[in-house]
Parts: sequence; structure tokens; C-alpha cells
Amino acid sequence: NFTPNAFVEDCVKELKEKVKNDRVVLGLSGGVDSTVAAVLLNKAIGKNLYCIFVNNGLLRKNEFENVLHQYKDMGLNVKGVDASERFLSALAGIEDPEQKRKTIGRVFIEVFDDEAHRIEDVKWLAQGTIYPDVIESVSVKGPSATIKSHHNVGGLPDFMKLQIVEPLRMLFKDEVRRVGKTLGIDPELLGRHPFPGPGLSIRILGDITPEKVRILQEVDFVFIEGLKAHGLYDKVWQAGAILLPVNSVGVMGDERTYEKVVALRAVESTDGMTADWVHLPYDFLMKISNEIINKVKGVNRVVYDISSKPPATIEWE
Ligand code: XMP
Repeated sequence: NFTPNAFVEDCVKELKEKVKNDRVVLGLSGGVDSTVAAVLLNKAIGKNLYCIFVNNGLLRKNEFENVLHQYKDMGLNVKGVDASERFLSALAGIEDPEQKRKTIGRVFIEVFDDEAHRIEDVKWLAQGTIYPDVIESVSVKGPSATIKSHHNVGGLPDFMKLQIVEPLRMLFKDEVRRVGKTLGIDPELLGRHPFPGPGLSIRILGDITPEKVRILQEVDFVFIEGLKAHGLYDKVWQAGAILLPVNSVGVMGDERTYEKVVALRAVESTDGMTADWVHLPYDFLMKISNEIINKVKGVNRVVYDISSKPPATIEWE
């Protein structure tokens, strides 16, 4: 039986013993896992924890600014690095999902490594890896080849001679949230839906352009804010929008349009390993669909994904 209080106490004690007076670097993602890991480490070692929050240009609308602000308010020693252009230019022209992940993983390591080198005498790399990450990374290496390579597992490039510390390695998501609550982290931050490391890049099918990122950020914003306004956000485990690589014909006044199609996805799950699509109310879907088509330039059709995992994965790529 998992008790968050006892976990925090043991974990902080272990972290102190393990890390001692060494400096630790940690990449914050805006998600629950890395945030909880950071707060635990902050509690254990304070200013010896150096957090780096990288904007890969594929985050949700306004996410980088808002979350960075929140981290600072929490007293974390954090540096925000806007590397959007570096990521987007590295991704230009790439269509294959695994290539996108690899590119993002590579650029992230480059950016992160540059920043880590600025910290004098850093000895440890902390990561917010949780149990399902560990399992999926192992199990996907089945006989039929890699399904999806999760870039936040798999350790370090050789040139970074850091030791790894992963305080949440044995926890499931709900346990991480309970630990976060015990630590006094803002419930809104703790209740945030999971969001993949490669961000919107794996929700833009096909190649990525700044314009597609803009469209998807706007669509996602309407959907997520709508879920919150209708009291549905907390009833859903994960939600997001997908920009499809097809145009469809529509009418606007007397004009024929030929614009993008977006899919909305909302799932119920406990750990992301299996998931069911959520029966969102028709009235809500109708309202959101109208709002997206009216507000977001370049989109003229909205569809809702009614596939469960398995066989469909949560992300489309
Ligand atoms: P799938 O799409 O495999 O996703 O059903 C299960 C959960 O994992 C997230 N996901 C990722 N997270 N890097 C990540 O950090 C990735 O490459 C990645 N791919 C999927 C997904 O959002 C869902 O929560």
C-alpha cells in the first residue's frame, strides 16, 4: 500500500545520502513527473539543483512562458531556454514519426548539454522517469522492432559523464500525483494531462512547419480551454488535437474553401498502456467544433477519434 508521506520522507533522505553536496542538473518539461522530481530534489538539496526548461517550439500555446513563471514562483532554481528555432529548423522536411522523435531527442541533448556545461562541476543528471516509461522502453524492443522510442529514457550521451538519479522510477502516474499533493504542488499543475516529450510534432502528421504548429496550438487551445470551462478536463486522462495531412472541401458564405482537417482525441486511462476514448457530450463536441472552425484560420473540418488502445495508440504517430 503506497503512502505518499512515507515516500517523500524516505526519498528525500535517500537523495541527500546519494547526492550529498554535489550539483544536480534536471530538465523540466512542464509535466507532472519532472516537476515532482524537481520539488523532491529541491527539498533534499536546494540550490544545488539546477533546472533547465527548454522550449522546443512544440509546446502548447503560451505554455513555455506560463510554466516557467510558475516554476520560479515555486522557488525552483530554473533557467528557461528558448530553442524553438533550432528544433523547428532541424525538423524541417521530416515526415517519419521515428525520425521526428530522433531529431528532437538529438537536438534536446545538444541544447541541454550546452546548458549543463555552463554549470560548474555538475555531477548528476536527475530525470522524472516513472515506471511505465521504464516498462514501455523495454517492452517496445520486441521482435517486430521498435514501436516508439521514448526519448526521455535511455540515458546519456557518452560525453556527459554524469550519474543518473531518478527518484520516481518505481512510481505510477497516480502515485506521482499523490506525492506532488503531499509536497504542496499546485493542484492545477498536478492535474495536467500527460503530454509527450516530442510535443505537437507527433500530432502534426507529416512534415512540420511553423504555420502548422500555429494552427495546431490554436485548435488545441480551444479544445483544452473548452474542456476546462465545461468541467470535463479532470474527467479525461489525456486530450489533444491532431492536424491531419489532408485538406477537405467546405463552404464559407458563397465561397468554396479547401482547408485542413483536425481530429480531437480524449481518452480515459490509468497509465497510458491501455485507453478508451471518452464519450464527450455531443453538445460539447458541437460547440467546440464550431468554435475551432470559426476561430482558427486554415481549418474547415473537425472529426472526433473513437478508437481505443489497443489497437490504436493514444498519439497518432
Ligand atoms: P501511445 O501513443 O504510445 O502513448 O499510446 C502512450 C503515452 O505516452 C505518450 N507518448 C510519449 N511520451 N515521448 C514521450 O515522452 C514519446 O515519444 C511519446 N509517445 C507517446 C503519449 O502522449 C501517451 O501519454
